[in-house]
Amino acid sequence: MPLCVFIVVIAEILFLGRLDIANKKSLVNSWADSFYQFTTLPWSSRKFSFDDQDIFGSGRVGGVEESSGSESCEELLEKKDFVAYSRDFEKEPIYVAGLIEHLKSCAVGCILGYHPGKKADATFGSAKAHKEPTILRSMEPVSYYQENNITYARRRGYDLVMTTSLLSDIPVGYFSWAEYDIMAPLQPKTEKALAAAFISNCVSRNFRLQALEGLKKANITVDSYGACHRNRDGKVNKVETLKRYKFSLAFENSNEEDYVTEKYFQSLVAGTIPVVVGAPNTQEFAPLPGSVLHIKEKGDIDSVAKTMKYLTDHPDAYNQSLRWKFEGPSDSFKALLDMASVHSSCRLCIYVATNIRAKEEKNLTFSERPCKCTRGLETVYHVYVRERGRFEMESIFIRSGNLTLKALEYAVMLKFKSLNHVPVWKEERPASIRGTDELRLYRVYPLGLTQREALYTFSFKGDEDLKNHIKKNPCAKFEVIFV
Ligand SMILES: *[C@@H]1O[C@H](CO)[C@@H](O)[C@H](O)[C@H]1NC(C)=O
Ligand SMILES: *[C@@H]1O[C@H](CO)[C@@H](O)[C@H](O)[C@H]1NC(C)=O
Ligand SMILES: *[C@@H]1O[C@H](CO)[C@@H](O)[C@H](O)[C@H]1NC(C)=O
Ligand SMILES: *[C@@H]1O[C@H](CO)[C@@H](O)[C@H](O)[C@H]1NC(C)=O
Ligand SMILES: *[C@@H]1O[C@H](CO)[C@@H](O)[C@H](O)[C@H]1NC(C)=O
Repeated sequence: MPLCVFIVVIAEILFLGRLDIANKKSLVNSWADSFYQFTTLPWSSRKFSFDDQDIFGSGRVGGVEESSGSESCEELLEKKDFVAYSRDFEKEPIYVAGLIEHLKSCAVGCILGYHPGKKADATFGSAKAHKEPTILRSMEPVSYYQENNITYARRRGYDLVMTTSLLSDIPVGYFSWAEYDIMAPLQPKTEKALAAAFISNCVSRNFRLQALEGLKKANITVDSYGACHRNRDGKVNKVETLKRYKFSLAFENSNEEDYVTEKYFQSLVAGTIPVVVGAPNTQEFAPLPGSVLHIKEKGDIDSVAKTMKYLTDHPDAYNQSLRWKFEGPSDSFKALLDMASVHSSCRLCIYVATNIRAKEEKNLTFSERPCKCTRGLETVYHVYVRERGRFEMESIFIRSGNLTLKALEYAVMLKFKSLNHVPVWKEERPASIRGTDELRLYRVYPLGLTQREALYTFSFKGDEDLKNHIKKNPCAKFEVIFV
């Protein structure tokens, strides 16, 4: 360091030492900037960062420590990484045009409606007709509505896709705690027939008709309330009726990943074992392993019929299949259904607002955030985390000496516990499975993954993978799912 600069530095520090701490913090920052500007090679070729902090850190330059209170890396990063985003979504909510909807509450300011003249952040409607990002929303299966294929929708210019697929940007499922009283108590199985079917249309693009006929041929007695093979009067309350049967034939009209409709969820409410023709990943929607029978292909019909007979003849085994009604469903099932405790339109607004911030962060002023701080042999990494379904991120810090998945989870838990955080699903879930006030972490994953990845396919491949991720993504952002 050139001697004259060094002297200036000392002088400044002594001067600053007399100011009150709050003022000084901002002064130190501007001083740091000018220090960077005025130093000459080789220093000027080094970008100033808090990696260099210990050059003028406390203890090295006399007299500073007590008066400055020598900030920790955490305090420094909290300040240096702070981003004053230009838009306050409370004052200037996300506006989505093309659909009127009133949200009870949302983690980000969010208006859906028609406000001619107001610039929309996104809009429902034809991708070609609008300049702002356009949204495709549909709960119909791709096999009947090809336009709902995500790849195809993007090709047609849709920026935001909302379909039943957990690969879509904002999944819209048929499920939610609010819509279905999933934990409703069991009722005695009083019907003679083993299974009930409510199939309104025998024509479909899968083998559901063959499955129905195949089960009958295998001597499974079926009461059919729908137009297809009707043998009972259909004017009944569906869920109340299903409650009296051991099995429910939940046959979808197409076999498509994540396409799991009310046929299935009503069976769960009724406490009857769903026998499914439908999504190839049906078992991911099971409340517990072994609680759902899946006819994946025609070849499975006979073996599923056999299982149905076995369960009928073995009440204890049958009861085991409905164990989740007594003990509660798996964490995996809760994590899936909890997604819907935040309304899809609110999740849409969160998604749009997150994109707006991400765009702003590409701005140079933001990319100069240090995001890490080295003192001696240890580096502190600044990362951010929020709960799925919320918007604002919380700061956490991970140390290089302990840059592990365990330490990340530990830091996340510590942070949210210190905030007395209440999970976003707390009010939505049935009281019997709301759990205690103790937070439990189910998943942490990088912000921006699809729900398919977040819930089922993604995991860091060990500590090394996490380490690389945090090093490659300054101020990395994560999302957490609590159960
Ligand atoms: C959507 O289209 C792509 C490309 O043609 C295809 O690979 C994919 O399987 C389709 N998805 C569905 C759900 O049909
Ligand atoms: C179904 O029941 C009939 C009459 O009881 C019997 O003859 C037939 O073998 C049974 N079929 C199967 C697959 O169990
Ligand atoms: C079914 O199992 C639950 C426990 O899982 C038990 O409480 C209940 O009494 C059982 N019911 C019957 C009919 O065996
Ligand atoms: C970057 O941020 C600065 C300060 O917030 C702002 O004045 C500038 O317009 C931004 N640039 C871009 C390209 O957004
Ligand atoms: C690393 O973090 C874990 C928390 O998951 C903690 O139990 C452990 O003591 C830490 N190890 C060191 C060396 O700090």
